[in-house]
Amino acid sequence: MPPPPRPAAGQHWDPAAYAAHAAFVPALGAPVLELLAPQPGERILDLGCGDGVLTARLLASGAKVTGIDADPQLAAAARGRGIVVTEQDAHTPFGAEVFDAVFSNAALHWMRDPPTVLSNIAAALRPGGRLVAEQGGFGNVAAVVTALTAALEAGGHPPPDPFPWDFPSPRLLRRRLAAAGLETVQATLIPRPTALPTGMAGWLATFADPFLAGQDDAARAALRADTLRRLSALHDPEEGWIADYVRLRFVARRPH
Ligand code: BEZ
Repeated sequence: MPPPPRPAAGQHWDPAAYAAHAAFVPALGAPVLELLAPQPGERILDLGCGDGVLTARLLASGAKVTGIDADPQLAAAARGRGIVVTEQDAHTPFGAEVFDAVFSNAALHWMRDPPTVLSNIAAALRPGGRLVAEQGGFGNVAAVVTALTAALEAGGHPPPDPFPWDFPSPRLLRRRLAAAGLETVQATLIPRPTALPTGMAGWLATFADPFLAGQDDAARAALRADTLRRLSALHDPEEGWIADYVRLRFVARRPH
């Protein structure tokens, strides 16, 4: 019997809002694409392809690309860019198709059970195939998490349990990759202070559902306002809001 689908982290996605507030996510994923170096004709799976902005660049390289995303609206947006998308949760095996490479940008930190997802990735790769990915790493958005948690506690609300995001260290990631049967080629933590085009309010509106779900509109507004106040040190009068992103960029291989 297949395992039951893992519960999502309480996040809701709106492709229009994502494009307005979070276009920097695919834009800053360009170095991961370069690391992948897709070749014409290669079979590539984009895990957590989202609205397909970066996936379309993979397609333009001449690779045969399939996207996977669990969110129906984001999957539809990616299909609108001409991308073949399997709408499914990455905790469920991906099927019989075999890939030369699996690519993932800013998606793996949403996974509730990373070892299961890494096993599914390993099973989908041909022997010698590669996984090239970037996700939030150890310490990612620590100030934002601290402020959200403090705002919840001050309002008498419990913080989300389990913690909704996965930000592993390189050491933990290497252990997980090995357990999934993948060899780590490289795994690097990269601090990347990130300017937020629509400010921290836009970031919270786009990404903070796991902390704010279950509250009524008034409580959500109050929690967002309190979080912004607690994060004032991340606001520069000239540069605007800068989020304390830390990326974990890595390459792994399925042995021959
Ligand atoms: C990230 O890309 O690091 C991220 C985005 C949303 C929530 C948490 C982390």
